[in-house]
Amino acid sequence: MHSLLYNYKFFLLLASLITCSTIAGSTRHGLSPPTTTRLTGLFPRLTFDKSFSDFFGGQNIKRAGNGSVVTIALDKHTGSGFMSRDPYYYGFFSASIKLPSTYSAGVVVAFYMSNYGSYPKSHDEIDFELLGHEKRKDWALQTNVYGNGSVSTGREEKFYLWFDPTQDFHEYSILWNSHHIVFLVDNIPVREINHSVAMSKAYPSKPMSLYATIWDGSDWATRGGKKPINYNFAPFVASFKDFEMEGCLWNQTKSSSPSCSNNNVNDRQGLDPIYGQDFIKLSQQQKVAMDWVRSKFMFYSYCNDAKRFSAIPPECKERNS
Ligand SMILES: *[C@@H]1O[C@H](CO)[C@@H](O)[C@H](O)[C@H]1NC(C)=O
Ligand SMILES: *[C@@H]1O[C@H](CO)[C@@H](O)[C@H](O)[C@H]1NC(C)=O
Ligand SMILES: *[C@@H]1O[C@H](CO)[C@@H](O)[C@H](O)[C@H]1NC(C)=O
Ligand SMILES: *[C@@H]1O[C@H](CO)[C@@H](O)[C@H](O)[C@H]1NC(C)=O
Repeated sequence: MHSLLYNYKFFLLLASLITCSTIAGSTRHGLSPPTTTRLTGLFPRLTFDKSFSDFFGGQNIKRAGNGSVVTIALDKHTGSGFMSRDPYYYGFFSASIKLPSTYSAGVVVAFYMSNYGSYPKSHDEIDFELLGHEKRKDWALQTNVYGNGSVSTGREEKFYLWFDPTQDFHEYSILWNSHHIVFLVDNIPVREINHSVAMSKAYPSKPMSLYATIWDGSDWATRGGKKPINYNFAPFVASFKDFEMEGCLWNQTKSSSPSCSNNNVNDRQGLDPIYGQDFIKLSQQQKVAMDWVRSKFMFYSYCNDAKRFSAIPPECKERNS
């Protein structure tokens, strides 16, 4: 991992030497991502109060712009977070996020789906975790997934970002359906998890709610815990806007047969409302974009961690096959 890191830094140095004189600001690393289909903007933008409620640390949650922008803060008393009012069974979930621009080692901003509250022993989870860094701009993006309580197997993959996530808002999206899970950043797929036979036991397959939180990850988030939070830089504030959640709104009162309480969805495709070619598989263009991210910016994959697993999880072998 160290040599990878070193190569990456060297690569960035080269790239920025070559391009920084001509490109400013948002393409800090001097690398423009490939063009891909926009999946964001296809669904209605939701207002905060209608679609979300406080999860914890309510005093650190602030609405701005008539509820179109929400900030959550971590200070030495508490972190904070909000969650969707309803659980969803499959769908497309997205927000634009701007990260704290101060020294942020040890800070974790998470944008994720979970049903831990309803299924503490067999929960599912799909995670974006943004991990702060002592160099302000060098946040790392961690993705992870748990299915049916598979917490003994962490399926983390970690990436550097090709932009400064503290400077502007960027879109972080989760597509989750019966075919696959796709993590997207600014519409670029960074990771795909197929609902394959090998993955079927650990594939999230129960309704989940969407969460956004900021909290103290001092003991692990930055350099494995070597860089804890420095509260002299608090409060750490993350901003969220452009919420989209489209999917099967789970009717919690109806326990027997699965159904969506948004009837238009039932009329369409039952439990898999986000359907059509754009959602059931990646296009060639999206695959090219995903390869671009993974080859240049991914610095950890559980699939390559032979030290950690005596047997690499079976879905890793299916890749590229
Ligand atoms: C907030 O909403 C009110 C009423 O709908 C509108 O007049 C006002 O311009 C809005 N403000 C912003 C910042 O969007
Ligand atoms: C999920 O786990 C439970 C036991 O906790 C098991 O009974 C069930 O069959 C599992 N479901 C799947 C899809 O593997
Ligand atoms: C949920 O299902 C129950 C029982 O069928 C029904 O009475 C209720 O209206 C449904 N709720 C929503 C929000 O659709
Ligand atoms: C997912 O499945 C599709 C279709 O079989 C395949 O092209 C793609 O490479 C698979 N993705 C991963 C990450 O295994």
